[in-house]
Formats: sequence, structure tokens, C-alpha cells
Amino acid sequence: MAILVTGGAGFIGSNFVLDWLKQTDELVLNVDQLTYAGNLENLAELKDDVRHYFTKGDIADSHLIGLLLSENRPRAVLNFAAESHVDRSIHGPEDFIRTNVLGTFHLLETVRNYWQNLPVSAVKEKITGVCQEEFRFLHISTDEVYGSLTKNEAAFTETHRYEPNSPYSASKAASDHLVRAWHQTYGLPVLTTNCSNNYGPYQFPEKLIPLMIVNALAGKPLPVYGDGQQIRDWLYVKDHCSAIRRVLEAGKIGEVYNIGGWNEKPNLDIVHAICALLDEFRARPDNRSYREQITYVTDRPGHDRRYAIDAHKIERELNWKPTETFETGIRKTVQWYLERPDWISNIISGNYREWIKTQYTLI
Ligand code: NAD
Ligand code: DAU
Repeated sequence: MAILVTGGAGFIGSNFVLDWLKQTDELVLNVDQLTYAGNLENLAELKDDVRHYFTKGDIADSHLIGLLLSENRPRAVLNFAAESHVDRSIHGPEDFIRTNVLGTFHLLETVRNYWQNLPVSAVKEKITGVCQEEFRFLHISTDEVYGSLTKNEAAFTETHRYEPNSPYSASKAASDHLVRAWHQTYGLPVLTTNCSNNYGPYQFPEKLIPLMIVNALAGKPLPVYGDGQQIRDWLYVKDHCSAIRRVLEAGKIGEVYNIGGWNEKPNLDIVHAICALLDEFRARPDNRSYREQITYVTDRPGHDRRYAIDAHKIERELNWKPTETFETGIRKTVQWYLERPDWISNIISGNYREWIKTQYTLI
């Protein structure tokens, strides 16, 4: 059997593919457009692994995705592919609409066509491979679709109203609605997950945690937006991956699962934690704290004040729990970046895009 993963060269997608192939020998078809956020260096250890089949491509390319589906007959499609950075969506929303909305639409249509032509279980006995009843479309989404919470409001449950505030979250909200509609209207067996902020290995250094680590080490300012008291709910990326595996394995068709680790923290606390770890692991030559590099900058327009995930449903119904606390996860993360100066410098120099060409034959 096989699964098809989209966006598997990005941060969460590449962590998912690496983890998946540590747990099972099931083939992974990985389709990624390799935008600035796609980095095949994340998957370098799979270069000669026959269980990983990489294709450069767009989720909106129905011909390509259709071929991959019909030739390999995966039992599931997991949609990680997206434009994912809120700040970029503010400066240039069009790519977000193109990939997150239109791309998801085209992907759903291609997958629907594939799924409708799969055998039903009654005739499957005579055919090897997946049948309609076994197939799943798992859409990976975000807690940002729910909008912003005030200080004392209860955390987001799966029935919280949708109130997206940025072009990014609006585009993800639209994609969630499309996925829901393809289930209600056509019966496509979908699952949706809405997760809180991830952190860990291979995160592109435009997002808060890797940006702070990379800037601190380079002696650059650590830009904190506004008062730094915005709250995010942090989950170590490997825990997100284990939750997705669990939802794929046991999630109920048509259901939504919120994923989070009960780790609400103000941004400034995160930056302080990173500075303290860097002070411990790699003290500045002048022995002063990295905290001295913190710089308060103009706030993000429409900045959501607080996110918090109520993860009771996935814990109760699917018996999932995260393994890392924020303290263990952030320690591992800072250590990981300290041990990967080449991965960082290849991104900063842009060489990671050249490196890709030497590793894979791109079609
Ligand atoms: P990322 O930006 O690191 O990776 C996205 C990947 O998708 C990249 O490899 C990129 O090349 C690829 N891609 C973009 N457009 C594509 C297209 N049209 N066709 C094929 N591939 C395309 O993002 P991430 O942080 O790994 O997020 C992955 C998914 O998880 C996204 O859907 C995001 O909305 C969701 N999510 C992210 C977080 C988080 O904290 N990072 C939290 C919750 C949910
Ligand atoms: O909540 C899930 C979402 O988390 C995902 O859906 C998104 O794909 C992911 O990018 C992330 O969105 P955020 O906007 O929360 O993440 P970001 O790392 O960009 O910012 C985290 C917080 O830190 C946010 O309040 C803005 C602030 N920030 C960010 C950067 C990059 C700063 O103060 N300074 C910065 O330089």
C-alpha cells in the first residue's frame, strides 16, 4: 500500500515523511511544488530509500496528481501543501488564495475522481489494493481559522465559530470549508485536523522560533512584534505528526480534530526561553545575554492576540497525547539548530535551492 503526501518537503510535511518511514515500510508518494518553503535537504536521509518517491508538482495540477493516484493507488492523501506564513500573506495574499483555496479545490476534484473509480469492498476480494471504503483524504489545517481569543475565553473546540483574521487564515478556512463540502456533497471520506503552532527541526527561519535562534547566533536583532504579549499554543512537530498518524488510523470520517499540547505562552516568554538556552549552550563572546538583542518592532496588522487549543476530543476519542512538554521540546529544538549550521547557511545563502538540483531529477 501507499500514501500520497502533499507539501512533504516543507516543515511539518518533511517531519511527517521521516517519521512515517521510521514506523512503517508503506510507500510515501511525496508531491511538493518546492516553493521557497520546500527544502529537499530536509529529506536527504531518504535519497536512496525506495520507499520514498518524490515528485515536484503543484496540487492544482490535476493531470500530474491524477497520474500519481491512478498509477500508485494510494490508500490515503494527506494534504500538507500550503502557503503558511501569516506575514507573507499580508504582503502578498494572491499565492495564498491560489494554493490554499484553488489548489485545495483542484486536489479535491482530482482525488474525488480517483476515489469514485476505486472498487467497492464487495468486489475488492478479486483485486489487490485499496477500495472506496478504506480510502481517506486527510486535510491538515490550523487553529488560526477560529480567530482570536480574549484572555479569559475558553480554548478552541471543534465547534468554535470560524472567524479568520489574516489572508492566510481566511484561505485556510476556505480550504476547510471545501473539504467539508466535498464530504457532505460527494461523500468523499475526509478528515480535518486543526493544529496549534508547531516548532522543531526543519522549520523555515521566517517563523518566530527558528528566526530568533538564527538571528541571535548571527548577532542580529530579535524582532518582537508590538508588546510581545500575544499568546500562542505550542506543539512539538513530532507530536503533531503522531496525532496525524492517529487520526488517519482511527479518526471518524467527516470529523474534525483539534490538535494541541496545552502549552499557551506569550511570545516574549518564548524569546526569553530561547535566549536562556543559547546563553547556556553557546554563550556570546562578550558573555552578555542574547536577551540584549531583543528589539520591539511595529506590530503585525490584524495581529491575533491569543490562540489556545482544547485537545480533549482527540485525547478522549483517539487516545492521543503529546510526548514533549514545551521545556523538553524547546531544548531539543535549540540543540537541533545549533547542530545544523550548514542547513541554516544553505537557506540564508539560497544554496538549498541549488542543492535540490543535485539530489533529484525534477520533472
Ligand atoms: P511550510 O510552508 O513549511 O511547507 C509548505 C510546503 O508546501 C512547502 O514544501 C511548499 O513547497 C509546499 N507547497 C506550497 N504550495 C504548493 C503547491 N501549490 N503544490 C504543492 N506543494 C506546495 O508549511 P508548514 O509549516 O510545514 O505547514 C504545513 C501545513 O500545516 C500547512 O497546511 C499549514 O497551514 C498547516 N499548519 C501549520 C502549522 C505551523 O505551525 N507551521 C500549524 C498548524 C497547521
Ligand atoms: O497557529 C498555527 C499557525 O502558527 C500556523 O497555521 C501557521 O502556518 C504558522 O506560521 C503559525 O502562525 P503564527 O503567525 O502564529 O506564527 P509566527 O511564527 O509567524 O509568529 C508567532 C508569533 O510570534 C506571532 O504572534 C507573531 C510573533 N512574531 C513573529 C515573528 C516572525 C514576532 O513577534 N516576531 C517575529 O519576527
